[in-house]
Amino acid sequence: KKTPLIAPSLLAANFLEIGKDVDMINNSVADWLHLDVMDGRFVPNISFGLPVISAVTKVSKKVNDMHLMIEEPEKYAEAFAKAGADYLTVHIEACRHLHRNIQQIKSLGMKAGVALNPHTSVSQLENIIADLDLVLIMSVNPGFGGQHFIDQTYIKLRQVRDLIRRTGSNALIEVDGGITTQNAALVVEAGADVLVAGSSVFASHDPLATIRELRQPVTV
Ligand code: DX5
Ligand code: ZN
Repeated sequence: KKTPLIAPSLLAANFLEIGKDVDMINNSVADWLHLDVMDGRFVPNISFGLPVISAVTKVSKKVNDMHLMIEEPEKYAEAFAKAGADYLTVHIEACRHLHRNIQQIKSLGMKAGVALNPHTSVSQLENIIADLDLVLIMSVNPGFGGQHFIDQTYIKLRQVRDLIRRTGSNALIEVDGGITTQNAALVVEAGADVLVAGSSVFASHDPLATIRELRQPVTV
């Protein structure tokens, strides 16, 4: 049996009362807190930035998992370290010098992750997987919460799992987009270690129960 780590995404929170939603996550069995940063360039949406994130990490009791959907993430890695990032994930499609960027993130004391858009092939990780702490597989096109899970993701998850096993990498596999209590077990079965969940948690009438349900052990 494998129990996935759950990372509620604050993107789906009530921004007028973020503190309440962070408290809810603190009081839940969630393992991580997922923070989505969008620049309006890499993705067609803008979310929130460093001042908001710093305020959140001051009160967060969870592992702070930052997902950068931005161009030139290397320009901001140090700022995100100062803002309390435990994991910093950059998009492979936004990095011309991914190896350098990963070393930079680690040298700043953070765990390093790489995210793949739905169209990006897992084979692109071949020469960087040994250096990674996390691989984030996007199961929707990044930019918005509340989208439908893309079924091709199951195949990609098996491919990443095989790559990690073959190379002896320690990287965790995180899945982001359209995760619900309906598909969570299938996603874990296909290889996921960490489940990001935005709307399924925050649209629930009982978010604490939904987080518990997402975190059910799965036979793998
Ligand atoms: C989408 C973000 C996700 C988003 C997921 O670009 O990376 O983290 O918050 O939201 P749901 O769970 O609603 O698909
Ligand atoms: Zn995300």
